[in-house]
Amino acid sequence: MNARLDIADAVDAANPVAADRAFIDIAGAAKTFVGQDGGAVVALEGVDLKIRRGEFVSIVGPSGCGKSTLLMLVSGLVEPTGGTIRIAGAPVTGPYTDLGFVFQTDLLLDWRSVLGNILLQCDMRGIDARKHETRAQELVNQVGLKGFESKRPFELSGGMRQRVAICRALLLDPPMLLMDEPFGALDALTREQMQIDLQTMWQRSQKTVMFVTHSISEAVFLSDRVIVMTPRPGKIRAILDVDLPRPRDLHIHETPGFSKIVHEIRVMFQDMGVIHR
Ligand SMILES: Nc1ncnc2c1ncn2[C@@H]1O[C@H](COP(=O)(O)OP(=O)(O)OP(=O)(O)O)[C@@H](O)[C@H]1O
Ligand SMILES: [Mg+2]
Repeated sequence: MNARLDIADAVDAANPVAADRAFIDIAGAAKTFVGQDGGAVVALEGVDLKIRRGEFVSIVGPSGCGKSTLLMLVSGLVEPTGGTIRIAGAPVTGPYTDLGFVFQTDLLLDWRSVLGNILLQCDMRGIDARKHETRAQELVNQVGLKGFESKRPFELSGGMRQRVAICRALLLDPPMLLMDEPFGALDALTREQMQIDLQTMWQRSQKTVMFVTHSISEAVFLSDRVIVMTPRPGKIRAILDVDLPRPRDLHIHETPGFSKIVHEIRVMFQDMGVIHR
């Protein structure tokens, strides 16, 4: 690690306010994948983004622009090929465990029950799962899966599976949540309900959330800020503040303030050729 970074880390670690302003600090992040055939894919290039503690940030962008890759870099599961990621002032140098990750595919284990999949968090960290059974049950009730605790994932619908994955991410009440299109597989009505429930949970818990979605209106509904990405290689095209009062209900979709931001983002995608006029 170079000297400049060492000094910056020391300053941030000693100054909680500075670290808070950039709880997640992504500086010049880049990722180039080298495929099996030796060909390189530049997934991300020069991404700079600072996220405050407790902030809800959404990332929207076309398929393949590096949204999932960006979350993977923040989680430390994938290493950047350029730039740095810091969380609370400390550089991420390996898998970061103090977070909940809802992956784009639900990654449930078919040989475990619903409760068993949620409690997997404990087994992976060597924590006594029995101490978290009550919390797991509460989460199951909250997401409307009461009665399905002992079912196996193959007995559930896509939307139900995704709700199990969300419960798993929330089980240990992590301060930070990375959510990769968590509602993509849900029917429209359940999706709206999940957006409301997520907002309520976020307002109560003040978690820092990075939320990837293809839905512009979902991003605006949920977020303090929306990050608009360009097509690959993914860069940040714009960052929009969403200064709409909270708690937001679904009628906010019908307000001029909401429509204005959705329109602005849609025009950006049209200008980039992602949506054709
Ligand atoms: N492990 C990998 N090895 C090689 N290439 C990869 C790998 N992961 C991602 N890529 C490539 O990086 C680019 C960005 O992928 P990524 O999954 O981050 O996109 P995305 O924005 O999440 O797309 P989507 O909206 O379809 O989920 C794609 O071109 C993809 O093929
Ligand atoms: Mg993705």
